[in-house]
Amino acid sequence: MARILVTSAIPYINGIKHLGNLVGSQLPADLFARYKRGRGDEVLFLCATDEHGTPAELAAAKAGKPVAEYCAEMHAIQSEIADGFGLSFDHFGRSSSDENKALTQHFAGVLADNGLIAEVEEEQVYSNADGRYLPDRYIEGTCPNCGYDKARGDQCENCTKQLDPTDLIDPRSAISGSTDLEVRKTKHLYLRQKSMRDDLNTWIDSKTDWPILTTSIAKKWLNDGDGLQDRGITRDLDWGVPVKRGDDDWPGMEGKVFYVWFDAPIEYIACSQEWVNAGKGDDWKRWWRTDVENGGADDVTYYQFMGKDNVPFHTLSFPATILGSKEPWKLVDYIKSFNYLNYDGGQFSTSQGRGVFMDQALEILPADYWRWWLLSNAPESSDSEFTWERFQDGVNKDLADVLGNFVSRVTKFCRSKFGEEVPSGGTYGPREEKLIADLTARIRAYEANMDAVEVRKSAADLRAIWVLGNEYLQEAAPWAAFKEDPDAAAATIRMALNLIRLYAVLSAPFIPTSAAKMLSAMNTLDTEWPGDVGEALNVLPAGHAFTVPDVLFAKISDDARAEWAERFAGVRT
Ligand code: MF3
Ligand code: ZN
Repeated sequence: MARILVTSAIPYINGIKHLGNLVGSQLPADLFARYKRGRGDEVLFLCATDEHGTPAELAAAKAGKPVAEYCAEMHAIQSEIADGFGLSFDHFGRSSSDENKALTQHFAGVLADNGLIAEVEEEQVYSNADGRYLPDRYIEGTCPNCGYDKARGDQCENCTKQLDPTDLIDPRSAISGSTDLEVRKTKHLYLRQKSMRDDLNTWIDSKTDWPILTTSIAKKWLNDGDGLQDRGITRDLDWGVPVKRGDDDWPGMEGKVFYVWFDAPIEYIACSQEWVNAGKGDDWKRWWRTDVENGGADDVTYYQFMGKDNVPFHTLSFPATILGSKEPWKLVDYIKSFNYLNYDGGQFSTSQGRGVFMDQALEILPADYWRWWLLSNAPESSDSEFTWERFQDGVNKDLADVLGNFVSRVTKFCRSKFGEEVPSGGTYGPREEKLIADLTARIRAYEANMDAVEVRKSAADLRAIWVLGNEYLQEAAPWAAFKEDPDAAAATIRMALNLIRLYAVLSAPFIPTSAAKMLSAMNTLDTEWPGDVGEALNVLPAGHAFTVPDVLFAKISDDARAEWAERFAGVRT
């Protein structure tokens, strides 16, 4: 039994995520975790909310709530929606947890002990009216280059010129609009990752099986132009992990917090401590500490899932934290990254409320419809696009016509001709032999693609496995055979009912709720992954009782499609 650690990039706390976020991290991570569990491996699957930083503070202010209260509420909401989508986290943690605070401070302390933290004095804009330092993007003013009056302190959106806040004409706070701003000197901590460039290069070069998308982004930041830059890891904010050196105060750093991108990935580890402290597990070190006497995570294989914008943080910054600690922490073995899913000719956008958000999706259709379409169209080798036509087409063809129709035809036919139990009589012949051979080949391909985290290819294999059942049924035509040779029809239906159970087992990683319905209709708890396919198709013996399930997948009508397209055309308010 292998041990598999899976983490999904942890979603920002501010607001409900859209389907593009979902398909880029949480959903494929869930697919993989479910698959590995299905194969009998020991899996720890972790995710959390990413709660610190200015966006969280501002979202709370907009909601008129203290930020801690806002985060607690949004965590509960995100957690419930994750359940709704069947995301099977062993724990859904919070980066604002005490565990993460302590661990983040610990890492900063050991990095400083190892000479990898520099203290740097900087100039930064302070807003008297807001009583706080303003991050560059929260300073607005007129662009010195094109005159656009809503240019941000980091960049002018209109002419794309990169700016410093001090370049802006008539600068003002984007939070309050106040122009009462001053430049103050302030000290910050920098992680000296430049000095770790060779180590990181060697490590990434050793990962020959990583997706090209992951490696190319990592290499670009490591070697292009200025290469890897030292990185500021503190901020002048109230909300975050207070800057400490281990348990000790850090002179000169009073009132500052760590940068959200420093503490967020550390939450992957802290989340496993939360999991233990919540009473769900008893040893987190087994998963994270590679020294044998303290854990023995050496035989764990660790997979991370994320959108491509997250890759630099997971290939460079977080590994720099881990390597720089010189402590025996488990490093990631495989990083799966995704391109973007677009929405109907544009981008999904949280800030603009464009697209379909996770809560809305569940209001209109069950999770499995979304899971199937999103995963079978995952933006792997390039960006992909959600349109309502493509969604309707995928759901109706794959789920309703192929899988749903098979289950319904077989169970209803059996009920009407043989009753609600697996029929006896007849024998298997060359047609069944060929079916088993074809299925075996496809199932082994499916496993290989799943093991390689090839999401779309796995979906194509699964669909092909469903199609084999339909072709078999079509050729054996038990409804025709029944009149002349009821035994032959009985054998076909016995095989087909067993196929339903087999399909439930194989499909569960993609469509867990429907798979559970299929199993329960087949009245079995046997979810063993098929080794020998012929044997797996003998699990339900003649005489075994079953029931006809309700319609598994309803087709999406043109009217419903048109209505949703219209309803989701604008922006969410
Ligand atoms: N919250 C980030 C995002 O949604 C992801 C953080 S992943 C972690 O882009 F590594 F920081 F945990
Ligand atoms: Zn401009």
